[in-house]
Amino acid sequence: MRPLGSIAVMPSTPDPVKGAPDWLPPDSAAFDAVEGAFLETARLGGYERVRTPVFEHTEVFARAVGESTDVVQKEMYTFADKGGRSLTLRPEATAGIVRAALSAGVPRSGSLPVKYAYAGDCFRYERPQAGRQRSFSQVDIEALGSDDPVLDAEVVLLGWEALRRAGLPAQALTLRLNTLGDPEDRPAYHQVLNAYLDTVDDLPPDVQARQRTNPLRAFDSKAPRMSEVMADAPLLADHVSESAKAHHARVVELLEAEGLPLTHDPRLVRGLDYYTRTTFEYQAAGLGAQNAVGGGGRYDGLAQVLGWGERFPGIGWALGVDRTVLALTGSGTLPPPRPRVAVFVVVAAPELAGEALSLVSALRGAGVATDLGFDGRSVKAQFKVADRAGAARVVILGPDEVARGVLTVKDLATGEQREIARTDATRELVGP
Ligand code: HAM
Repeated sequence: MRPLGSIAVMPSTPDPVKGAPDWLPPDSAAFDAVEGAFLETARLGGYERVRTPVFEHTEVFARAVGESTDVVQKEMYTFADKGGRSLTLRPEATAGIVRAALSAGVPRSGSLPVKYAYAGDCFRYERPQAGRQRSFSQVDIEALGSDDPVLDAEVVLLGWEALRRAGLPAQALTLRLNTLGDPEDRPAYHQVLNAYLDTVDDLPPDVQARQRTNPLRAFDSKAPRMSEVMADAPLLADHVSESAKAHHARVVELLEAEGLPLTHDPRLVRGLDYYTRTTFEYQAAGLGAQNAVGGGGRYDGLAQVLGWGERFPGIGWALGVDRTVLALTGSGTLPPPRPRVAVFVVVAAPELAGEALSLVSALRGAGVATDLGFDGRSVKAQFKVADRAGAARVVILGPDEVARGVLTVKDLATGEQREIARTDATRELVGP
């Protein structure tokens, strides 16, 4: 390594971090289109954008997501800052959003539920494979402050619509639904489940370790044989209160009335501890093991776990942007990327670069995406760049045009060429 001032010059380009993908054009356009479709669906539902820090005090996730979950035990990026505080990069957004609402005293505000939407990166130290990364992006909605089952139905429906708006065909999507009841339902069920697990010989170590504190996590275990073992396990849905059952029946009724194809999955517990009542997951065909493109549920006890003195219910989902792009790529339903620019200005003589820059600035000011040739390239080479940029029209700026106060405009699809007055440029070149 050769020092350059205080910066060390590396002998070669560092590798990207494992599991942390880059999104460059044209793939980044697909990413933006999916994220945009999710956010637009949230906006249409009256969900407003929020931004919370990419890191929180570690205890926010440890308490909210749960000490005995894989996320907290194995997957968090935790570090001490220079002040010695333990901080963690968010493995998911819900805990931070609820923490932010509580910090701002939102439960005391007059108009509940509040509806929040978020888009951003999350970080989990998982074993990278197709569809599973260490740095990935979610769009998330959270509705806070209501128990109404109509809100559950709205949230589930919006997730479905968001995935459809992003381009996933309904036939490629499965919606799994379950109820996890209320926190008060758990102790009795834990006893029943533990009694069943006690009858199983050689439980895998990860299940044994959590059996007494959180036996529900046995449903998440990926250990061989466990899916067989859990197929016969007693189900939480059979041990929830009458009120939770009625809530679930209403959600199902509303979703069925909307024509949503539901797959009832009584073993769907999801990997985060905060869930209560309605829980759901959207799966896309063709993604193999990592087929969940989104999921969510109610978390009526989360605010209290985060120290709020009263009950403050909530429900939401997160959709995975990266995984949805993968699903769209796999099913060949990725929308074609938008052209980079509409107009390309070919600079026919290097001394006209300043004139060209004024022209592109004027066109951009009028809302026309415009680029120009650089590096004194030949007219032919600039036409190639224009073509690759997807420009519909090329404006040729040469000494003759400048002398006469005109511009030559070529339509790249038809090859048709015409002259316009320089003073008419913005008017003539706005629009298709
Ligand atoms: P989650 O199921 O852990 O839920 O994540 C939601 C989605 O994020 C997954 O369905 C998947 O598409 C994507 N995702 C998760 N981990 C990865 C990964 N390692 N690589 C790529 N994509 C991934 C939550 O995060 C909850 N906070 C959802 C929620 C919101 N529940 C209530 N409100």
